[in-house]
Amino acid sequence: MRIDVLTLFPDMVKPVIQQSIVGRAMYEEKLTINVIDFRDYSENKHSKVDDYPFGGGAGMVLRVEPVVRALRAIDGYEKARKIIMTPQGVVHHQEQAKRLSNEDHLIILCGHYEGFDERIRDYFDEEISIGDFVLTGGEVAALVVIESVIRLIPGILNKDASHEEDSFSDGLLEYPQYTRPREYEGKRVPDVLLSGHHQAIDDWRKEQALKRTKVRRKDLYDHYMKKQKNAGK
Ligand code: ADE
Repeated sequence: MRIDVLTLFPDMVKPVIQQSIVGRAMYEEKLTINVIDFRDYSENKHSKVDDYPFGGGAGMVLRVEPVVRALRAIDGYEKARKIIMTPQGVVHHQEQAKRLSNEDHLIILCGHYEGFDERIRDYFDEEISIGDFVLTGGEVAALVVIESVIRLIPGILNKDASHEEDSFSDGLLEYPQYTRPREYEGKRVPDVLLSGHHQAIDDWRKEQALKRTKVRRKDLYDHYMKKQKNAGK
């Protein structure tokens, strides 16, 4: 997969993508991420990329020309899935990450300032938000989306670190996990996990996942139960 990130703050993005799973995927050449400073595409002599809003109002608005010029300079941009990070977008979720992990090429625009010139939207395919709050810019949000997407690309996670059991992958939160020691300050690992009885362990995990989802995320629980009912389970 190839990802191009359009940003005015490349130093917010570059060090992060060199780390962890993202850095490893790049090292293993399963992923290329280019970080593009679209200020370089400003034709303004002071490299300005924002301007006052028509009709007045507070703050500055991102101009359309530098963004579109930077976009068109990206090799293969026409076919790429083009995304704007904005609090006005669809709130990101696991299914969306899965869908995007099947793309060959993503282009992600990180905005700053009070907003975008509305015409910028005409050059992009979709808008993504990472939640109902406003960040100063889209960089951190883009990193969240990138991380959620690339860990789903086949071969990027360790073979034994399956994401099939991630929270959300089946619509439920993940069951509780334990490792050694068996007892810590009187807190014991549930006996069933030490039993070696695989069916009993699976049943316990399913029950715990359901219980946890019901308490913490009633919305997900109701959706899951409805899906099960429709599937005749
Ligand atoms: N830019 C500013 N706030 C954002 C958010 N919540 N999600 C995505 N991009 C953003």
